Amino acid sequence: MRLVATSDLHIDKNGPEVLAYLRARVAELAPDVLVVAGDVATSPTVLLQTFLALRSVVPRVLYLAGNHDVWGHPTLHARGQTAWWRLDQLLPALCAESGVDNLDAGPQEIDGIGFVGTLGWYDLSTKDEALGAPDEAYASGEYAGMKWMDHVYAIFPGPDGQPLPCQAVAAVLRERLAAQLAATTAPRIVGVTHMVPFAEQLHQKDHPGWRFCQAFIGHRGLGDVLAGDSRVELSIAGHTHRRSDLRIRGLRALCSPLGYRREWNGMTDAEAVAAAVTLIEL
Ligand SMILES: [Fe+2]
Ligand SMILES: [Fe+2]
Repeated sequence: MRLVATSDLHIDKNGPEVLAYLRARVAELAPDVLVVAGDVATSPTVLLQTFLALRSVVPRVLYLAGNHDVWGHPTLHARGQTAWWRLDQLLPALCAESGVDNLDAGPQEIDGIGFVGTLGWYDLSTKDEALGAPDEAYASGEYAGMKWMDHVYAIFPGPDGQPLPCQAVAAVLRERLAAQLAATTAPRIVGVTHMVPFAEQLHQKDHPGWRFCQAFIGHRGLGDVLAGDSRVELSIAGHTHRRSDLRIRGLRALCSPLGYRREWNGMTDAEAVAAAVTLIEL
C-alpha cells in the first residue's frame, strides 16, 4: 500500500492556492490512501472544497478532525453548534458528501490494514512543570501574554451544558480510540490522532508563552493506547506543526504537518507542500 500522510493544512489561513499545490503533489505521488490528520479549516465550505479536491486524486482519503475543524463562534454554541456537534455531526456529513472516510466516526480496513483514529484532546500531561504556571492559567488558557483560543472556540459541553475541562474531553476521545482498536481485527494497524501522542514529538522553545502552550499539544494517554497494541506499527499525528519521524515504543511515530505560511521559513508554496506530504510504503 502506498500511503501519503499530511496534516495541519489550514487552507482557510494559507489560501486556496496551497490546496492546488497539494492536490497536484498528491496526484503526482499517486497513493492508494491519503491520511489527513486534522486542522484543514474552520469554514465548512473550505472543508468540503478541500475534501472534494483531495478525493478527486486519491481513491481513499482518511480524515479526522483537528481542533480548528471543531471551532465555532461562541454565539453558535448557544444554538447547539458545539465542538461535539461539529465532531459527531457536521464533519461526518461533509465527509459523506465528498466521499471521504471519517476516522473519528469509526475504524476502516483497507487491504488488510486497519486504520483507527481520533481528534483526541490534550489533558495537560505534556505540561512543562518547571514553568510553574498556576492551575488557573491552564483553566483559562492565558499566561505570559499567550491566549490559547480553543478555550474560546472549541467548547465541548458536558451533560449539564457547562464546558467540560480538557481532561474530560481527552478521556472521552481516548476511550473512543481504545474502542476502535478493540473493534478492529486487522493484524496491522495505523493509528491516527490530531493531538500528539508522544512527548518526544513536542517542539520545545525557551519562551514562557510557548512552554505554557505545550500543555495543549499532547496527550500521553493516546500514546499508551497506541503503543499498548502490538498491531499498531505506525502513528500519524498533527497539531504540533513540527515535522518529525521517530521510533518510539516499538512503532514509527510520524508528524507531517504543513502548518502556517509564517512557519515555512522562506520556502515557496510548492516546497512547503512537498515537505508536508510523506509517502510511506506499507
Ligand atoms: Fe494546526
Ligand atoms: Fe491543531
